[in-house]
Amino acid sequence: MKKLILDINVDSEGFMNNQIKRSLGRSIAVAALGVGLLGQGAWAEDLDPEAIERGKAAAATCVACHQADGSGMNNEGAEPWPRLTGLHPDYIVTQLTDFKEGRRTNASMQPFANMLDDEQVHDVAVYYSSLEVTADASVEASEALLERGRELALNGDWDRYIVACVSCHGPGNHGVGSTFPNISGQHPAYIVKQLQAWKEGERENDPLGLMKSIAQRMTQEDMQAVAAWLGQQPVLPENNSK
Ligand code: HEC
Ligand code: HEC
Repeated sequence: MKKLILDINVDSEGFMNNQIKRSLGRSIAVAALGVGLLGQGAWAEDLDPEAIERGKAAAATCVACHQADGSGMNNEGAEPWPRLTGLHPDYIVTQLTDFKEGRRTNASMQPFANMLDDEQVHDVAVYYSSLEVTADASVEASEALLERGRELALNGDWDRYIVACVSCHGPGNHGVGSTFPNISGQHPAYIVKQLQAWKEGERENDPLGLMKSIAQRMTQEDMQAVAAWLGQQPVLPENNSK
């Protein structure tokens, strides 16, 4: 398999604090080695039951969009609601904090993030990451589109410097630590929307601009293809599904 070399200047002063830089460097090294990583189950076992309970109460307003089971909705043609299950709790904390502090913007989501104090942000993150993952997300797509998506996700496109998604998002694209989110089984319309947002400079909270630089090289069809394929993959690793 042809692998692209990551050329990331980890010394450049971006919006990153040292801790994120360190974990990022480590995660990339681990992802590049292709070593088995923290499975989704690994953190789920350590979650504080009281935080889960508090989080459940604080999440009462979230179900209108993210659904009672946290599975979200593809909402083709309207605004997609991301699946929140199968995500690392610290990644959820980062995203909610970014919404609250305006580093990530979305008119539907921000008012709800703003209603949470720091403890509630922590608690809802723990709650969603404790939930069982329900049905996988998938949309209809042609074999040719899925094959192109699979190629981009697993091997990238050397000629256009599109790095394979797995080289950062980890084996099965199930995520690496709290920095690289699980994108497997996420709703395709949401994946496409995020890639477009990075390409157009509307989402800018990614560490070191890693996603922006990839999205900028992708065409609309690349985005549709990779999202359709990812949407058909299981949210959790097979040996780890609950
Ligand atoms: C009115 C609909 C709506 C409600 C209610 C809502 N959200 Fe969201 N949420 C969204 C949308 C839409 C997005 C995707 C935003 C984007 O496209 O960037 C999102 C994104 C998120 C994300 C980022 C997920 C990721 O994978 O990066 C998190 C975390 C989240 N919401 C948590 C919550 C929590 C917790 C609540 C309740 C306190 C909540 N949301 C209530 C619509 C909603
Ligand atoms: C060089 C590393 C790297 C590569 C390669 C990479 N990503 Fe990412 N990706 C990231 C990081 C880091 C984040 C987290 C951004 C943040 O914290 O806001 C991310 C986040 C995402 C998200 C947002 C998930 C969410 O829940 O909101 C999507 C969608 C995504 N990546 C898709 C892809 C796809 C598709 C590919 C392959 C074409 C890819 N990524 C390749 C590093 C990478």
